[in-house]
Amino acid sequence: MDFREGLKHLPKVDMVITDPPYNIGFKYDVYSDNLSTDDYIKMISLLDGMPLAIIHYPEETMKYFIPALGVPTEVIIWCYNSNLPGRQSRLINFYNTEPDFTKVKQPYKNPTDKRVKKLIENGSKGTRLYDWFSDIQLVKNVSNDKASHPCPIPIELYERIILLTTKEGDTVMDPFAGQGNFAIACINTNRNYIGFELSKSYCDIANERIQKALAEKEVGE
Ligand SMILES: C[S@@+](CC[C@H](N)C(=O)[O-])C[C@H]1O[C@@H](n2cnc3c(N)ncnc32)[C@H](O)[C@@H]1O
Repeated sequence: MDFREGLKHLPKVDMVITDPPYNIGFKYDVYSDNLSTDDYIKMISLLDGMPLAIIHYPEETMKYFIPALGVPTEVIIWCYNSNLPGRQSRLINFYNTEPDFTKVKQPYKNPTDKRVKKLIENGSKGTRLYDWFSDIQLVKNVSNDKASHPCPIPIELYERIILLTTKEGDTVMDPFAGQGNFAIACINTNRNYIGFELSKSYCDIANERIQKALAEKEVGE
């Protein structure tokens, strides 16, 4: 359903993590991605006041999200390889919450350094995350993270944002769910999930993938 309708019936959510439409004129089956700037800002304003992480390009952050929600409390830059000119990074804009960078470790960049070697010998798994990520790439066409959506967000990126901002058992919401990668990230990290998606065909794909992820998790436990 349209998340604007869904919000009226929403139970309390602990966090909203989302990759909103790009507003580039793409024609989805029931949804044309070409709202006017004012309508787009009005739609996003409905999320104002919630703890939020919004993933989008820098230019669109300035055009839509700052007018709708104000200046983010924290920004992480996600950089990746892409052939599209001017499209090699996105911002993860946080509102009404702060990511806790100590919750996820990244491998040491200089593991042979004497001091770092000692830390590793003493059981350290890495150092705290930086506020830029360059170790997660876009979803490849051949990847399991790709169903039929043209622009899915990697499950690994969703998992990282979930770990930085929520705890096990929390309820997390995505108003623009697409093919369900965020739901799978929630299953993998033991979070409860609420998602909205306008397109019936993406919903069907998301539900199928969610069932598969749940079944795989059950086998693994
Ligand atoms: C950028 S895509 C999200 C893709 C998603 N992150 C994934 O990994 O599959 C945005 C999605 O929002 C959906 N959408 C647009 N307006 C919506 C609305 N008002 N309510 C619910 N879904 C909407 C579109 O159909 C589209 O699938």
